Amino acid sequence: MDLYEYQARDMFEKHGVPVLRGIVADTPAEAKAAAEKIGGVTVVKAQVKTGGRGKAGGVKVAKTADDAFAAAEAILGLDIKGHVVKRVMVAEGARIAQEYYFSVLLDRANRSYLSLCSYEGGMEIEQLAVERPEALAKVEVNPSTGIDLAKAKEIAIEAKFPAELVDKVAEVFVTLYKVYVDEDATLVEVNPLVLTEDGDILALDGKVSLDENAGFRHADHEALEDKAAADPLEAKAKLHDLNYVKLDGEVGIIGNGAGLVMSTLDVVAYAGENHGGVRPANFLDIGGGASAEVMAAGLDVILGDPQVKSVFVNVFGGITACDAVANGIVAALDILGDAATKPLVVRLDGNSVEEGRQILAARNHPLVTLATTMDDGADRAAALAAK
Ligand SMILES: Nc1ncnc2c1ncn2[C@@H]1O[C@H](COP(=O)(O)OP(=O)(O)OP(=O)(O)O)[C@@H](O)[C@H]1O
Ligand SMILES: [Mg+2]
Repeated sequence: MDLYEYQARDMFEKHGVPVLRGIVADTPAEAKAAAEKIGGVTVVKAQVKTGGRGKAGGVKVAKTADDAFAAAEAILGLDIKGHVVKRVMVAEGARIAQEYYFSVLLDRANRSYLSLCSYEGGMEIEQLAVERPEALAKVEVNPSTGIDLAKAKEIAIEAKFPAELVDKVAEVFVTLYKVYVDEDATLVEVNPLVLTEDGDILALDGKVSLDENAGFRHADHEALEDKAAADPLEAKAKLHDLNYVKLDGEVGIIGNGAGLVMSTLDVVAYAGENHGGVRPANFLDIGGGASAEVMAAGLDVILGDPQVKSVFVNVFGGITACDAVANGIVAALDILGDAATKPLVVRLDGNSVEEGRQILAARNHPLVTLATTMDDGADRAAALAAK
C-alpha cells in the first residue's frame, strides 16, 4: 500500500524525522485557513499517488494566504497522469540551500535491502540513474544489521556528501531506516531531502510503501487505506478474500490457481485477436476450494464490471473435484438470479470432469455454454464478448 505524501509526513514526524508543518485541505478556503495557521510562505502540494507533481503544476509556492487559496483552486481538480487531485497539503515553506536524494527499499532480486542516495537531488531519480549513474550511490543494507550510524555514514560518503555534512545526514538516515523497519515498509524515499539556509536537514517530500502482509502487526495502518479511491470491485473482492485485479478488456476470467488464471489471460488475449481485439477484463483466482459461495462472490464481482461482455470460467479439478465446482456454478447462478445477465463459457477438466459436465448439462442454464478445451473456451468467450 502506497501512502500519500501527507501520510508519509505524519509518519516521519512520529518517528522523529525532521519535517516541516503540513496541513491537508480539500477546498481553497481550507487551504487559505491552513496557510494562515502556518504563517509566512507556504507551498501548496497536490496529494496524488504518482510522481512528477511539480512538473505537472501540482506544487505551487504561496507568499500569502490568498495566494494559497488561488494555488489550491488551480491544483484541486487537476489531472496528474490520470490521478485527479482531490486534496492538497499546505506545507510550511523551506529556504532551500541544497537538495539531496535518499531511499531504502526491499531488494527482492538480491533478497536484501538496498539504499539509494545522491548528493545531487532536485532531478528525477530515474533520470539521474540513467544519465549520471556515478552520482547515485547504491549501498546494500544487511537486513539483520540494518542502517546504524556507521552504515549511515558509509552511505553518505558513498553518495559524495562533503565531510562536514556526513554526520548530520547520517543521523537522519538512521531515523528513516527506523521508519522503514518499525512500520514494515518496502520503500521509504525522500526526494528532496534538503539542507536549509539555516543549516538544517529536512525531509521535504516522502514516499512510503507499506507491506500489507505485515498489516496484522499494525492496527493503525488500516486507517491509512484510501477506501474511496480504491476500485469498488477490487474492494468487494478483497472483502471476500479473492485475488482480483481489474484489467481493461471485455472478457471476465475466473480460474482456480494463479498459474492457470495467468495462462487463461494469455489464451483469451490471443483468441481475442480473431474477434475484433477483445481482451481479458480481469484476473480472478478463486483458489483451491471453489465452493458455491466463493464462485458466487467471484461471479458477482466480475458481473458488476460494466465493461464485461462475457465470462470464461476455466477450472481444473484437483482436490476440489469438477462436480463440486459445477455445483458451485449452478448454485452461484441461483444465488445471483436476475443479477446474472452475461453469457458464461465453462471449461472443466481434471478430477471428476464427466460428473461436472453432467451437472451443468442437466441444469441447462440459458447463459451457460460448455467448452471442451481451454482454446475452445477462450474462442467462444471472445466471440460472445465481440458480439
Ligand atoms: N515545503 C517546501 N518548501 C519549499 N520548497 C518546496 C517544499 N516542498 C517542495 N518544494 C520544492 O518543490 C520541488 C518539488 O516538490 P516535491 O518533491 O514535493 O514534488 P515532486 O518531486 O514534483 O513530486 P514527486 O516527488 O511526486 O515527483 C522540490 O524539489 C522543492 O524544490
Ligand atoms: Mg519529490
